[in-house]
Amino acid sequence: RKNVPLLELKYRPPTHLNTSPPTMSARTLEAIRYTPDHLQVLNQLVLPHETLFERVETIQDGHATIKTMKVRGAPAIAIVAALALAVDLSARHKKGEFPNAAAAVAFVSESLQYLKTSRPTAVNLFDAANKLLALVQERGKTATGAQEVVDAYVAAAEKMLVDDVQDNKNIGRFGAEYIFGQAKNKDNVRVLTHCNTGSLATAGWGTALGIIRDLHATGHLSHAYCTETRPYNQGSRLTAYELVYEGIPATLVTDSMASALLRSQPVAAVIVGADRVARNGDTANKIGTYQLAIVARHHGVAFVVAAPSTSVDLSIASGAEIPIEERAENEVVTVRGIVVPLPGEEAVREGEARTVQVAAKGISVWNPGFDVTPASLISAIVTERGVVLKKEGEDVFDMAAFLGK
Ligand code: MRU
Repeated sequence: RKNVPLLELKYRPPTHLNTSPPTMSARTLEAIRYTPDHLQVLNQLVLPHETLFERVETIQDGHATIKTMKVRGAPAIAIVAALALAVDLSARHKKGEFPNAAAAVAFVSESLQYLKTSRPTAVNLFDAANKLLALVQERGKTATGAQEVVDAYVAAAEKMLVDDVQDNKNIGRFGAEYIFGQAKNKDNVRVLTHCNTGSLATAGWGTALGIIRDLHATGHLSHAYCTETRPYNQGSRLTAYELVYEGIPATLVTDSMASALLRSQPVAAVIVGADRVARNGDTANKIGTYQLAIVARHHGVAFVVAAPSTSVDLSIASGAEIPIEERAENEVVTVRGIVVPLPGEEAVREGEARTVQVAAKGISVWNPGFDVTPASLISAIVTERGVVLKKEGEDVFDMAAFLGK
C-alpha cells in the first residue's frame, strides 16, 4: 500500500455507521427490540455515529447493559431489566432448569434483586421489580408447574413494553395541551428540554420529548432547544439525534447557555423528565435539571416535569430521600466522538471513533448523575393520568392524592 494518496485511505465506515443525517420520520427510533425469547438493545454509547443493536440473553447481560448506560432513561432501564429476565427465564425453563413452580419463583426473585443493583436513582426499575415479584409470587401459590410462573412473568414483562408507549402518548397529549394553553404567545411556542427523554429513553415516543413531539405534530411548536447535557451528552448525542430524525425544528445549546437563552428567546416552558418523583413532587432528574429550574423561575418561565406514574415514589416524603448515583470520573474528563478533520488536517481518519481526554490530568472530579429539583420550582407534573398542579398557595404537590393513594 505504498504511495497510496492519503485521500484514498479515508476511513470507510462499516455498514451500521450512520453515514448520512437521518431525515425521515416514517421510521420510528427504538432502543429496545423484542420478540419472544429474543431481546436486542441499541447501544447508546456509540450513538449518534453508529446504530448498533446488541443481543441481551441473560440477566448478567441486562445488568451490564444498564450499568454501563448502553441503555438509559428511567422507563427503558426498567423495561430492559424486565425483558432480560424474561428471555433468561424462558431459556432456562426450556432447558428444564425449574423442577417446579417454587424453583421458578425463586429464580425470578433472586434475579430481580440482582437487577435492582444496576442503577440506584430511577425508581421505575424498583417499581417494576416489586410488581413483577408480587405477580409471580401470587401465581406461584396456585401454579401446578414452572410453566405457569414463566408464562405469567413473560406476559407481564411484555405488557410493560406496550403500556409504556401508550402512557407516553398520553403524557404527550396532556403536556402539549397544558403548555400550549399556558403559552402567552401561541404563535411562537418555544420550549427547552434537558437530557434525553424520547424514544431512546423509553419503549417509544418519550415523556418530555413526547410532549415536544405532540406540540410539533399538532402544529403548535415553533422551536425546540435542547441542552448538551454533559457529561454523557444525552442532549447533543441522543435528543438532537431524535429531533433531527423527526424533522422537528430545533437548536442545540451547551448547558452553560440556558440563562442567556431564556433571556433572549420567548421560551414558553422548560420540559424535563424524571427519574424519581417524591410524594411532595420533589423530582430527581439528570444533573443540571435543578439549575434549569432556578433559571426558569428567575425568568418567569413554566418548568414542567413529564413522567409516568411509575416514576412516582410514594414511599418517600421528599427528594432528600432519593439516592443519587455517582458515576466514574472518566465520564467527565473524557469525551467520545468521531474524528472530523479541521482545516489543514486532511490526513486524519475521518469518521473513526475516538475517546479523548478533555481535562487536565490529575484533577479530581465529582460526577453525580442526577440532582433534585424542589417542588417549589416546578409548575406542573404531567403524567399519563393527567396534569398535577399545586393547590393555591401551596409550595408542594400532593402526588398521593393525585394517584388516589
Ligand atoms: O442517566 P440517564 O441517561 O439514565 O438519565 C436519564 C434522565 O435523567 C431522564 O431525564 C429520565 O430518566 C427520564 S427518561 C424518560
